[in-house]
Amino acid sequence: MTDVKKLFVKTYGCQMNVYDSERMAEALAAQGYVTTDVVEEADLVLLNTCHIREKASEKLYSDLGRLRALKADKPEMKIGVAGCVAQAEGEEILRRAPMVDLVVGPQAYHRLPAMVEARGRVVDTEFPVEDKFAHLPERRALRGPTAFLTVQEGCDKFCAFCVVPYTRGAEVSRPVARLLDEARKLVAQGVREITLLGQNVNAYHGEGPGGAWGLGRLLREMARIEGLDRLRYTTSHPNDMHDDLIAAHGDLPQLMPYLHLPVQSGSDRILKAMNRKHTAEAYLRLVERIRAARPDILLSSDFIVGFPGETDADFRATLDLIRAVGFGAAFSFKYSARPGTPAAEKTPVPAEVADARLQELQALITAQQRTVQQAMVGREVAVLYEKPGRKPGQMVGKSDHLHAVHVSDPEGRIGDMVRARVSVSAPNSLAADLISRIA
Ligand code: 5AD
Ligand code: SF4
Repeated sequence: MTDVKKLFVKTYGCQMNVYDSERMAEALAAQGYVTTDVVEEADLVLLNTCHIREKASEKLYSDLGRLRALKADKPEMKIGVAGCVAQAEGEEILRRAPMVDLVVGPQAYHRLPAMVEARGRVVDTEFPVEDKFAHLPERRALRGPTAFLTVQEGCDKFCAFCVVPYTRGAEVSRPVARLLDEARKLVAQGVREITLLGQNVNAYHGEGPGGAWGLGRLLREMARIEGLDRLRYTTSHPNDMHDDLIAAHGDLPQLMPYLHLPVQSGSDRILKAMNRKHTAEAYLRLVERIRAARPDILLSSDFIVGFPGETDADFRATLDLIRAVGFGAAFSFKYSARPGTPAAEKTPVPAEVADARLQELQALITAQQRTVQQAMVGREVAVLYEKPGRKPGQMVGKSDHLHAVHVSDPEGRIGDMVRARVSVSAPNSLAADLISRIA
């Protein structure tokens, strides 16, 4: 028997965690770990957690409860907690959850292999001086033609509801040369679409030739990489949408016409209490400028309802903003008080009120999403295949506008780019008929 060890990773929350989970699996591969989808087989279970809302954190403890039974039958199994709950709660997790062997924060992942080898229970939630990205392997284990690339981490914005500045720390941008190098390697491995990631991605200001580069300039340079057909970036703050970045949306055909630009609320009073540092009007003007640069761009947003002090009039202002913009998609959440954030000190809106507002807001967003998708029917779209569909002979990929598109194409392979005509708009996807293979 070989001593292949098996790793099971569960990822909660945002795309940054998806990226981090892949990096952890790669770091552990060097120690002989192969990933498994079957948790019962695992020698090491890693839970890469999210702390953004209370529900997200609670999932960790219910999953740990289930793992305890598994570990009772298999005592040599190691259980690790990674991600933002690990960062926020640290040793508290070891106290609350006796089955946990290691707790590792997002800034310490390069030390994970050593932690796994260690005897006894270990916690590492330091923010190190060294660059954790320096430990990335030469080749990445890829799944399909799309990849994430983290260009910055952390956030200095301190929105009054948000834990990110505490769990992910201050804003740090990676240097331009390293990112270009990593992007070129991804393309050489067959990647055709890269999504630049950061908690506050458009605050990017990495060191490049001649000084600090903004995200617009980085995108322009990435667009020169032969074979890199599509670029996206997420998540952005309205106050960091600078002129050059907006112009890039008009100048670069590779930059896809979809932008996630959270506004959170449409009420100036609430925006101020949230410490967002912009008004609803400023957001609407920004949307106009972005649409002037790229008229067909689809916008999406995040919304929080029931922020402390939100009145019915504040909520109506949010609905007005949604009507004024017309979003292609949106995520909406009931406010969740997070310990340590300024808003957590304030009196919450009654749960029934917040629930009713959430439903009303989601109904409006769903209607807008449906209208936008319906308008795609009959149009020609480019689709980059990511995986086979559920039906035989079917492939699934994303359009330029980030719609999931199903295409009947028995000869289709993952990584193909095709032209297809949209025939049906389903609740969360489109169906389209193949026209031609682009490449
Ligand atoms: N309560 C509810 N939603 C939150 N978000 C962040 N913090 C909270 C919170 N305390 C939402 C915001 C953010 C998204 C990632 O999660 O809308 O943009
Ligand atoms: Fe959190 Fe985003 Fe605000 Fe930063 S900009 S504090 S990540 S909501």
